Amino acid sequence: MNFDFLAEAAKEAMAKAYAPYSGYYVGAALLSEDGKVYTGCNIENSAYSPTNCAERTAFFKAVSEGERAFSAIAVAGGYKGEVKDIFPPCGVCRQVMMEFCDPHTFKIILVHDSGYEEKTLSELLPLGFDSAKK
Ligand code: THU
Repeated sequence: MNFDFLAEAAKEAMAKAYAPYSGYYVGAALLSEDGKVYTGCNIENSAYSPTNCAERTAFFKAVSEGERAFSAIAVAGGYKGEVKDIFPPCGVCRQVMMEFCDPHTFKIILVHDSGYEEKTLSELLPLGFDSAKK
């Protein structure tokens, strides 16, 4: 499948980032199994630890709207909004993905300045913990 449209949506979502402390603008675009796209950005906080990553913003928007089945997420990020290298999801975001997604089929689209790399969740989170599947 071609994920150019999802990569583009993630890059557009970067513009909404609230990142006055780190200067890193991050955007995510989450694709549901029925084809809906939920976007998210990082939202920082002066107390630092309440900061929410772009990926979790997208997931929490979607889940709070009743969505439960997902096929892919695209992530784009860069200092002051300039996309150069891939901006891989942090461990906490990978674990949130694990809660809702099949690690062998869910795709993570890592956007860079000339396209994207495609990974599965199980590649980025090997042996991920999921109590519901134990
Ligand atoms: N960030 C994300 O939005 N996603 C990630 O997976 C990694 C980190 C944000 C959090 C913070 O606002 C900034 O990037 C620098 O850590």
